[in-house]
Amino acid sequence: MEQVLTVPTVSTEARLEASPFLRACRGLPVPYTPVWLMRQAGRYMPQYRAVRARYSMLEMISTPELAAEVTLQPVRAFELDAAIIFADILPPLMGMGLKLDFVPGRGPVLENRLQRAYDIDLLATPPAEETILAKTLEAVRLVAAELTPRGIPLIGFAGAPFTLASYAIEGGGSKNYARVKALMYGEPAAWKRLMTKLVTVQVDYLLKQVEAGASALQVFDSWAGAALGREDYRRYVQPYSRMLFQQLERAGVPVINFSAGTAPYIADVASCGGDVIGVDWRMPLGWFRQRIGEGRSIQGNLDPVALLAPWRELKARIDEVLAEAGGRDGHIFNLGHGILPETPPENVRRLVEYVHARTMRGEAL
Ligand code: CP3
Repeated sequence: MEQVLTVPTVSTEARLEASPFLRACRGLPVPYTPVWLMRQAGRYMPQYRAVRARYSMLEMISTPELAAEVTLQPVRAFELDAAIIFADILPPLMGMGLKLDFVPGRGPVLENRLQRAYDIDLLATPPAEETILAKTLEAVRLVAAELTPRGIPLIGFAGAPFTLASYAIEGGGSKNYARVKALMYGEPAAWKRLMTKLVTVQVDYLLKQVEAGASALQVFDSWAGAALGREDYRRYVQPYSRMLFQQLERAGVPVINFSAGTAPYIADVASCGGDVIGVDWRMPLGWFRQRIGEGRSIQGNLDPVALLAPWRELKARIDEVLAEAGGRDGHIFNLGHGILPETPPENVRRLVEYVHARTMRGEAL
């Protein structure tokens, strides 16, 4: 009876729901503050580099067994409270018609970047299972089958419409976002069509990750803050991000709304939606909390560079984040942006152990 092995029973699902991470997402009391790290599956781990030495980034993403293996590496090595599926925010653009490559030393490159309004009309919006994303959905199934019985939640993710639009138009990373802003300002109707198509593709992909077994979702708006002031954010991004989070309400799992560089208008970002607001490291957690309000959980926000410091300094920085969180429920400990490849794995181990020990509830000091 194969089914018995693959379909989670009521009790394993209940175990997952009782996990500190999912409870913290919902603002419920937890035994200790849960921890996971953005980009936790990556180059700082020797186990990851060993796999990566043999396969390209795209090969790893499109081979479910490899993606599953790399997803599980940090969960095996450290007492992390959640896994995040190994994938990237950019493959959804491939299904839409863009040619993606990860070029060593240069980062992601989109060969046929969008140059005119007409290019946007040609973009397809296929369902995830008809594209390379089918491989990630399969990887989600493999990882969930392993982690669900152990009560460890798996996070599915996607890029927010602005961050994806910036890659599609700039053709890669960017310093000043001149091309994407030129299109935004110069061709507002084309911008609207592009952002609407991106929302369609991302909502479909995110919901299908949940169907495949993801028990939470994170949306990364990595570059909106670097590119846009508050008024541009409100005019050109907020309506579409709001659309995205509204459509994710039917996912039935907690949704994390992460962005970087958006402190000056974090209330506008938070108003788009999400059960949890993921914040960067540029302002103290309490400062963000005041602007987001009490109704929602908060994720963050250690400066990733702190992980390169000696333990004494790192510990002091962790203590600062925990003091800002004030021992209240609804905090998920994380970095304020992705972990750096230079990070010593030993520091990750110490961080996770320390956050758990330091926040253990019911041990009044
Ligand atoms: O562990 C995890 O968090 C899951 C895997 C994950 C990757 N990318 C793997 C990856 C996640 C969640 C992402 C998201 C992602 N990808 C974002 C949003 C997060 C953020 O940091 O803001 C962005 C902007 C991207 C785009 C991207 N992918 C860039 C800019 C790069 C190159 C830069 C770099 O760090 O080298 C990638 C490549 C990439 N994605 C790597 C990994 C592990 C490194 C590839 C390698 O092994 O050579």
